[in-house]
Amino acid sequence: MTKVTVTKSSLKSLRSGLLVMPFAAKELKKDAVKTFETFGLDVAALKDCNGKAGDSLVVYSGGSKLKTPRILLVGLGNASKIEDFRKSAFSIAHQASSLKVQNLVLDCSSIAAWARNTGESVGSLSELLVDAVLYGSYSFDRLKSGKAEKKRGKGKGREEKIRLRELKVRVNAGSVKEATEGAGRGVIIADARNLARDLVNLPGNLLNAEDIADAARKSAEKSGCKVRVFDKAEIEKLGMGGLLAVNKGSHSPPTFTILDYEPESEPVATVALVGKGVTFDSGGISLKPANGMDEMKSDMAGAAAVIGTIEAAALLGLPLHIVGFIPATDNMPGGAAQKPGDVITTYSGITVEVGNTDAEGRLILADALAYALKHYSPDAVIDLATLTGACIVALGYSVAGLFSNNDRFAREIYDAGKRSGEKVWRMPVWEEYDELIKSEVADVHNTGGKGAGSITAAKFLEKFIEGHKTWAHIDIAGPSFSTKGGKTKQGGTGFGVRLLVDLLRAWR
Ligand code: BES
Ligand code: MN
Ligand code: ZN
Repeated sequence: MTKVTVTKSSLKSLRSGLLVMPFAAKELKKDAVKTFETFGLDVAALKDCNGKAGDSLVVYSGGSKLKTPRILLVGLGNASKIEDFRKSAFSIAHQASSLKVQNLVLDCSSIAAWARNTGESVGSLSELLVDAVLYGSYSFDRLKSGKAEKKRGKGKGREEKIRLRELKVRVNAGSVKEATEGAGRGVIIADARNLARDLVNLPGNLLNAEDIADAARKSAEKSGCKVRVFDKAEIEKLGMGGLLAVNKGSHSPPTFTILDYEPESEPVATVALVGKGVTFDSGGISLKPANGMDEMKSDMAGAAAVIGTIEAAALLGLPLHIVGFIPATDNMPGGAAQKPGDVITTYSGITVEVGNTDAEGRLILADALAYALKHYSPDAVIDLATLTGACIVALGYSVAGLFSNNDRFAREIYDAGKRSGEKVWRMPVWEEYDELIKSEVADVHNTGGKGAGSITAAKFLEKFIEGHKTWAHIDIAGPSFSTKGGKTKQGGTGFGVRLLVDLLRAWR
């Protein structure tokens, strides 16, 4: 964990491995020159800096008045878009980790001016910067023992992992209070996002349904939420036919976990968050092709996002009653596995013809949605799921699909996406699509044939919300996991946490 503090001490007095000085492009000729001269730094360096958001330059500060060996100049563009601040913060995190920096000072002496420029508050800018630096500093290295190098005589075994231990945010006296509060929120949010990434990055052999329940318990303990875990016998007693059918081929029992956050004051509303927790999706008897199947360890990213969101919401003390529902299992083939053509009875009583066992997410979500509505009567319900490859075909890897039966709610989620940087794009759930999931033998079919794969999946889920007027389904198949070769770090992204926290905070 990185220790984050806000200080008004002078830059000259702060000792660190790296001093980060962000500058807007237009400041490079005046303010930056002045700052450089004050500290006895070589102003020539500024000529190599263009000030574009995220562009950076390392300057060595030997002979200067600073107690830091190097300075990182980072561009902020024209310092008017929060997207630019986010970009810069990522670039800071990446530079800090490639320079193996343990202590970092971030010069935010101009934060009040940046706030005016962007129309944000000092607090929210400080939150955003801290969140983005901590998010950008994440790495998943707990499964690296270093032993292989040792045997070959390279190095001394696992190197003490160099990570960012301390982040000091330097602001002027007038901004200390707000910046400190913002930084505190930034830490909560980044930790929750990174928790979701850890869960996604854990492979199928190290994270099964019971481990998901344990992760929820651990998170609840940290944030003071209530938690309840249904085991296989209880799930059978409840009659969750969808979750049980998907679990049939598995050697690990399913779990159904409820995470319940209640605020101290009378809640403004009750919101249900349902997260798909398929710990590994082989496709079942409708087996997936081998290529890329390993990525299906990320098929519980919806569950991870729900756990992270509730942890953050609780620690932030949001005035809402928020309940998370997490059906979890892996989806495996085997002699006992469910078969294409099987007809199952879900928790709601609705029968489903399972045309394809690889359309398993919707089967477990059907049970969880129906359970949430029946027992909690929420004012709004949102499910998050890595539900369809078709959604990636439609929207790619950085944007999630949004499906909702409520225009206003959809708008609010869309806006939260724009604000948080975790963007969603709405797709229709028109009646026309119902035709595609009709079954000859059961109430509904679990696949919709060739076209509109992500929409028919949403239409399937809609059958289980019992006419609720404020429902949204977010298909995070694309943005929840980044594959090798992409621009961002490979692995879980924690997508959904920032989006939902933003949405819940803006609740009206
Ligand atoms: N977990 C997958 C969807 C997925 C695919 C997520 C790629 C992330 C990356 C889901 O369970 C699935 O297999 N969906 C099928 C549905 C089809 C059988 C109707 C799909 O998308 O192919
Ligand atoms: Mn599947
Ligand atoms: Zn799946």
